[in-house]
Amino acid sequence: MQAASLAARCGRAALALVAALGLSGPALAQQTLNIYSHRHYGIDQEVNALFTQQTGIEVKVVNADADQLIERLKAEGENSPADLLITVDAGRLQLAKEQGLLQPLQSEVLATATPELLRDPEGYWWPFTARARIIMVSDERVEEGAITTYEELADERWRGKLLIRSSSSVYNQAWVSSMVAANGDEATEAWARGVVQNMARPPQGGDRDQIRAVANGLADVCVGNAYYLGIMLNSTDEQDRELASKVRLVFPNQDGRGAHFNVSGVGVTRHARNVDAARQYLEFLVSDEVQQMYAEGSYEYPINLDFTATPTHESWGEFKVDVQSFPEMGDHIDDAISIFDRVGWQ
Ligand SMILES: [Fe+2]
Repeated sequence: MQAASLAARCGRAALALVAALGLSGPALAQQTLNIYSHRHYGIDQEVNALFTQQTGIEVKVVNADADQLIERLKAEGENSPADLLITVDAGRLQLAKEQGLLQPLQSEVLATATPELLRDPEGYWWPFTARARIIMVSDERVEEGAITTYEELADERWRGKLLIRSSSSVYNQAWVSSMVAANGDEATEAWARGVVQNMARPPQGGDRDQIRAVANGLADVCVGNAYYLGIMLNSTDEQDRELASKVRLVFPNQDGRGAHFNVSGVGVTRHARNVDAARQYLEFLVSDEVQQMYAEGSYEYPINLDFTATPTHESWGEFKVDVQSFPEMGDHIDDAISIFDRVGWQ
């Protein structure tokens, strides 16, 4: 008996050794999840490493902007290695869905964790962080209440005092698309013309560069994603912290439709090979632990819209979110791009 149980133990030990060395067996083969992502934040690598640690599934990421990734998915067709497409904007996910590049995924976990108004009703993509594109002003030079709506960015009083990044940014395209949804094509063109006239310089740099320029006195008002100010306020770079402290957030259109809101989201590709791993990954992204990692790492809002996720978010307070134009955002991207061309918004 003793000899038999020893042999059994040895057998188990040998199997364990094989497992540890990864020598063979289909059950031991490591799964890989391939992601095409437009996200560009350091926290994502930590999130992916945690996923691998918890599940044993390796994560490989190809980074590029959403339009390039969409073109690549189209060109690769069923040979595409990608299981997931991640963007920083719902509009692009909607386009990917319309072009037949995604497949629906139903999940109780995802349905419970995400607001109905900020997701695809058919589950072709799911949001996992939320972001507000809002107005930021010089705390020294712009008094409280001086500007309260996006529409006022075109007012003559801001002539030569406004900064916004280039129209090639998907953030601006989604935002102006929401302006078209709210105000129509004609009114948005007239407004965009005023915005371009008000610019202190031709668009250059990213959102953080506009914030720095306002802090340095080059302009009084800029538009940017709130999380960039959060990143600067909590930066290890002392100069960025100092500059960020000179800029105040204004959540616009609070008496109307609310501040422009977008999401970072993810869809399972039409030809995904690892749908089960993809589902696990999506459900992992909306877990409390990962939601808190995003809030502290990139200062985006958790997808459950917890306005108190970090002390920084809490200091900004609650605000009204524009959910009205959200479902239409993807429908007006072409209109927005054509408006940018017509008014000379570089
Ligand atoms: Fe960003």
